[in-house]
Amino acid sequence: MTALKEKLASQISPMRSRVKSLIAEHGERKLSEVSVANLYGGMRGVKSLVTETSAVDPQEGIRFRGYSIPEIRERLPRAEGGGQPLPEGLFYLLLTGEIPGADEVREITAGWRESEALPAHVKACLDALPTDTHPMTQLSAGILALQHDSIFARRYQAGMPKTDYWDPAFDDAMLLIGRLPLVAAYIYRRSYKGGDHLPPDPGLDWAANLAHMLGIENPEFRELMRLYLTIHADHEGGNVSAHATHLVGSTLADPYLSLSAGINGLAGPLHGLANQEVMRWIVNVKEKLGGGVPSKEQLTTFLWDTLNSGQVVPGYGHGVLRATDPRYIAQREFALKHLPDDENFMIVRMLFDLVPEILRQHGKAKNPWPNVDAHSGCLLVHYGLTEYDFYTVLFGVSRAIGVLSSLVWDRALGLPLERPKSVTTDWIASECAS
Ligand SMILES: CC(C)(COP(=O)(O)OP(=O)(O)OC[C@H]1O[C@@H](n2cnc3c(N)ncnc32)[C@H](O)[C@@H]1OP(=O)(O)O)[C@@H](O)C(=O)NCCC(=O)NCCS
Repeated sequence: MTALKEKLASQISPMRSRVKSLIAEHGERKLSEVSVANLYGGMRGVKSLVTETSAVDPQEGIRFRGYSIPEIRERLPRAEGGGQPLPEGLFYLLLTGEIPGADEVREITAGWRESEALPAHVKACLDALPTDTHPMTQLSAGILALQHDSIFARRYQAGMPKTDYWDPAFDDAMLLIGRLPLVAAYIYRRSYKGGDHLPPDPGLDWAANLAHMLGIENPEFRELMRLYLTIHADHEGGNVSAHATHLVGSTLADPYLSLSAGINGLAGPLHGLANQEVMRWIVNVKEKLGGGVPSKEQLTTFLWDTLNSGQVVPGYGHGVLRATDPRYIAQREFALKHLPDDENFMIVRMLFDLVPEILRQHGKAKNPWPNVDAHSGCLLVHYGLTEYDFYTVLFGVSRAIGVLSSLVWDRALGLPLERPKSVTTDWIASECAS
């Protein structure tokens, strides 16, 4: 058993007892109310899920097991000579609540990389899709094809006690996360590089190897991938990718089926797809103006045109946050250090100065500040990853770390089938009339 699995195993029993006594002592305690507006308003703010791995404060943003993004950037182990946290360390933190040392992180890297060959049927499944199939569709299909190797599904079929569920869920998470960069790179190279695939480099950490298999051999891009794959991993439990993974997992569908569901949610333009929309928006502005960095006045006109035509400004606003997303700030700091004069970064900076005030004047968005997706595109383009449709795949590879960590805890705590009560508009109307 690895150090991580042993640590997890030691935490499960005390956590089960803690939850059991909370329910026994406070089971009837009300934590939230549900209004008619909530029912029609996407359940914003209704406390109805338990997620251990992270929590979002509207002003402060995400905290992973209590640690802010600046704190994890400071405290999580880094690659040799690197300045960014390794996603392997975040996985350890999300699962256990503890900051790992370099040895624990090395062990996770080794675990993720040990069975990373992509089975032939997975390649065949992806190859059966037209190369212009959206990369997120391919990612979801690739994850489903990998499900053939689910240990959870096999053990469940063979008969396993409920108390053991977490164990094969963990094993599936390890194998699946280990293979995701291979799936992502396979999609990228078949869709955009004529199927000229690159073998993994066994000497690299998980994120750097993804950078390598994409075909971008730049140490700064490796650093970007480490940062990117860390900060996109988790955003508490109610966002669509996390919630969908959790919901499908509550049927005891295995981690592959559950993650695929989450990835399908991430593929929506109001969720993860916004990162590709941001770059498309910027390029569209540049094309219309004949290239270069537009003036403030020109950008302002474009922003109002977008809003007046009934579209959203991509990368701005959030379901929960009410301040600038710390994940945006982390990427901005990276850009200020590594690419301060990049043309697209200059536009992203100008948008940061302009959009909040314009959205305030527009008067609809509750949060006029940038979210995580407002920044990533310009960084990726800078290093040569210019295929916008692919960006959400990177988000998905990262998100797997968070939602699968949560799924392991869902099974460890024996959380039941999720089945909220729905009501009809007639029922609401009659309830309100009484
Ligand atoms: C993220 C997002 C989906 C959150 O949705 P939400 O919680 O419903 O947001 P709000 O409560 O602030 O929405 C209230 C109104 O403001 C509008 N609004 C929110 N963000 C907006 C934006 N960036 N541009 C224009 N209008 C926006 C909404 O469309 C909504 O309009 P409506 O009443 O006509 O339906 C929304 O801000 C958005 O669409 N942003 C752009 C897409 C994006 O960046 N997504 C990535 C999220 S990480």
